[in-house]
Amino acid sequence: MSELKGLLRTHNCGELREDQVGQTVTLCGWVNKYRDLGALHFIDLRDKYGLTQLGFEQFEGDLTILKDCALESVIKATGVVALRPDAAKNKKMDTGLVEIQVKSLEILSRNDIDNIPFLPFGQVEATEDLRLKYRYLDLRTKKLQDILALRSRTTNTVRALLTEENFIEVETPILYKSTPEGARDYVVPSRVHAGKVYALPQSPQTLKQLLMIGSTDKYFQICRCFRDEDLRADRQPEFTQIDMEISFATQEYVKNVVEKILKNLFKLSSDFVLPMMTYDEALTRYGSDKPDLRFALEHKTVTDIFKDSDFSVFSSVAKEGGLIKAIFVPMSNGTFSRKDTDALTDVVKPHGGKGVAFFKVTEGARSGGISKFVTDEIYSELCTLEEKSGDGTWLFCASADRDTTHSCADALRRHLGKKLNLIEDGYKFLWVYDFPLLEWNADDKRYIARHHPFTMVKSEQRDAFMAADPKDPEALKDMPSEAYDVVCNGYELGGGSIRIHEPGVQKKMFEVLGMSEAEVKHQFGFFVEALNYGVPPHGGLAFGLDRIIMMLAKTESIRDVIAFPKTSSASDIMAEAPSAPGESQLRELHFNWTK
Ligand code: AMO
Repeated sequence: MSELKGLLRTHNCGELREDQVGQTVTLCGWVNKYRDLGALHFIDLRDKYGLTQLGFEQFEGDLTILKDCALESVIKATGVVALRPDAAKNKKMDTGLVEIQVKSLEILSRNDIDNIPFLPFGQVEATEDLRLKYRYLDLRTKKLQDILALRSRTTNTVRALLTEENFIEVETPILYKSTPEGARDYVVPSRVHAGKVYALPQSPQTLKQLLMIGSTDKYFQICRCFRDEDLRADRQPEFTQIDMEISFATQEYVKNVVEKILKNLFKLSSDFVLPMMTYDEALTRYGSDKPDLRFALEHKTVTDIFKDSDFSVFSSVAKEGGLIKAIFVPMSNGTFSRKDTDALTDVVKPHGGKGVAFFKVTEGARSGGISKFVTDEIYSELCTLEEKSGDGTWLFCASADRDTTHSCADALRRHLGKKLNLIEDGYKFLWVYDFPLLEWNADDKRYIARHHPFTMVKSEQRDAFMAADPKDPEALKDMPSEAYDVVCNGYELGGGSIRIHEPGVQKKMFEVLGMSEAEVKHQFGFFVEALNYGVPPHGGLAFGLDRIIMMLAKTESIRDVIAFPKTSSASDIMAEAPSAPGESQLRELHFNWTK
């Protein structure tokens, strides 16, 4: 063991083997198990490295001390490493061939066994809320300790890889100004400047661009970002990015850096190349810009096939410019009961869908659902879209306006993939590019930047963009940008873009987004001015570190990969944050609030 001297122990609880038999050692750890067999007493001592059995046949003190060694108490034991008798050897335990014959024992810290809310190694599973309230107890579990170690190894690897490519790590401020990434800001009131606030960065976007203007060339930071947005299984209000920015970079360079990182972290083969797909293709084939490619069930567009059908739901959608998509499921993948097909409505409802039309084909005969509307002609056209399956086929359809159909068919595909157990093991990565520049925000009833306002249009569209009427963003809605995402197994692992480096283009972008000159000056005056003083073309990307760790640790909850996570209502139930400020704090911060 390569530990510097000065610890209370000589070894940890996971490292003793036959080689050490005869040595006098001192171990420290938590009491994981205590067995009193009358004449014989055993303790399994635990730390994050493992378990070691303590025996007390050679104990020189008073054995009644063992009565005080409640589970989860912290003790220090000194004794001699001994080979266990053959019958007591435990091959499943790393240290299972040996035990310590304890000579002396000290209780370093007693556990209040009557009041401890749960035993991290107990039989009874505590609820998630209880585990979060007592996170330090849950952290004692191997699962969480392994994830903490994985996270630490991962950031070390990323640091080494980027340093090898001449990136330098730069810290940027946390007390700052609004950085637009599409969420609400967390704000911090200023004591010194009455009535003013700092905003916590949603990302260091403007700062990393300013670093490029400042000639930093290749920047990275493993940084905390803060976003007040609706939380989901893969979102936290504060999360960590592996943030990068590179001067004179093309999209190809950014992709190469990403490949290098993925190859190392996910142990991919040395010739791994990220598959690429345009945003439009991803939407057409999967209804999503982050498709899970571990299973097939691709979408087929069938709008035209149903345009003149007697099924009025479909024909009206087709005539009104909507979209109808179908998923073919060969019966070899599975079959569906009435209950299963009824349940599909609940799959699409949260995405604005009203239901899922379906029919099946067995030995050439169509039946069920909408089959009576499927004429021979329609059927033969459908058959051109998918190879016929010998066993028969189910066909499921979503129909509505374009966006609703895409998201319903996406939800349907993911549901079917899971239900039919089609999801293969392993990682399926994808580079999605050519994202649209703008997107419609239904809440604010206006177009906003799809990635962020600093994203460049595709170079071949630059002139058209500059010539466009800024009051008509609708006309630009399909214009592609230099934005890209890295996707893995249905998660967005990272996103970035090549940036606008020309002041005129940036000014036009703010106009298109409907920002007045005064607003731009107030929010980004410093940044816009910087664009006048010599700017290298640049671009970058930010990975979501938490999501990378979720992938590596194979967990579906982001809370598992953060030492002290927040709940889905953005609170820390251990420390009870957020909490009400004190009266004097309120006064100092110039608030006229009362509690
Ligand atoms: P973006 O907003 O796409 O880009 O964020 C980059 C990546 O950060 C992760 N992420 C999150 N992870 C956990 N909880 C959240 N609330 C959360 N929000 C985002 C995702 C996402 O892909 N400044 C740009 C990057 C750039 O243009 O270089 C940015 O922040 O994995």
